[in-house]
Amino acid sequence: MMPDIELTPGVYTWGALSTHARAVLAETPVESPDAEARWLIERAAGGRPDGAATAPAYAVGHVIDMLERRLAGEPLQHVLGRWAFRRLELVVDHRALIPRVETEVVAEVALEEAVRQGAPRRAADGTGGRAAGEFLVADLGTGSGVLALALVDELPTVEVWATDVSSDAMAVARANLAAVGLAAGRVRLAQGSWFDALPDDLRGRLQVIVSNPPYVGADEFDELPPEVRDHEPREALVGGPTGIEALEEIVVGAPPWLAPDGALVCELAPAQATRAVKLAVAAGFAEAEVRPDLAGRDRVLVARRPQGPSGNPAGCRGAPVTGLARARPSSGQDADGGEE
Ligand SMILES: C[S@@+](CC[C@H](N)C(=O)[O-])C[C@H]1O[C@@H](n2cnc3c(N)ncnc32)[C@H](O)[C@@H]1O
Repeated sequence: MMPDIELTPGVYTWGALSTHARAVLAETPVESPDAEARWLIERAAGGRPDGAATAPAYAVGHVIDMLERRLAGEPLQHVLGRWAFRRLELVVDHRALIPRVETEVVAEVALEEAVRQGAPRRAADGTGGRAAGEFLVADLGTGSGVLALALVDELPTVEVWATDVSSDAMAVARANLAAVGLAAGRVRLAQGSWFDALPDDLRGRLQVIVSNPPYVGADEFDELPPEVRDHEPREALVGGPTGIEALEEIVVGAPPWLAPDGALVCELAPAQATRAVKLAVAAGFAEAEVRPDLAGRDRVLVARRPQGPSGNPAGCRGAPVTGLARARPSSGQDADGGEE
């Protein structure tokens, strides 16, 4: 039975409204009714309200509206309309993937790869490092813009090309530029499929390519939780018939775009780890490994181009393997059983 969302007409304090939201959510399958109630209340109040203060009528209406949407199965993030990613709070809605916590680890690995190549991290006084524009990064399949925006926010001199095939996603990314203030001037948005979206003169100059491509198999789509399947864009989730196709296109296509010693950093499904490392080695990367997410599951492919000026970007594919390819111990769910 649906819990009773409506309140009897009257004047409510924030405390009473909060108690009501908690009681309604506690009767649903949501995992953390207390935390969700707090988030809804803070969203309606624009911050943490004084429980004894009277909630304005429009805020009471807003809380009821949010409860209705949540009970109808909309993701919490869509109901709130905003979600946190590292230091940023971003607009989220049905037009782009909701930023996931595992993608924060992808951002961290991409940041480390940029720092390894000389990009300064944001200093307390905001100074230091190369001139803007010298350090080039691409975020392929930017969605809401999370990875691109985290990178310009935390690396004060990098310039990031953020691309997506979806005009809806590009609109969300554009709206999110405001979250990084002046750093938005170091983001270029370009619509198109993977590398097709990039201008040709970036070939051989990108120091980091980061991507969280869609990686669910077409057959797996129907088995996704309804909150995901019915509310997030299919093209943000499904990577092809088996799921690895988008990742494969990026791994194979990346070497000519990377500067010598440049790195490709991609999110993947744990079952794709072994195959992804093999693909990277076959594509001519000098080193390839998969790092874990916070839950210890294989999650982030890091592949580095050979170092030094001898690296011929155009001739990189199929070059002899000079480095080490390694995957962390697998979770045992490799889609291909770890065999070629
Ligand atoms: C898993 S979502 C990741 C979104 C965002 N980067 C994040 O981490 O939250 C994958 C993104 O890739 C985009 N995409 C799918 N196919 C693409 C293609 N052929 N070229 C470029 N982007 C594509 C989708 O529109 C979606 O925004």
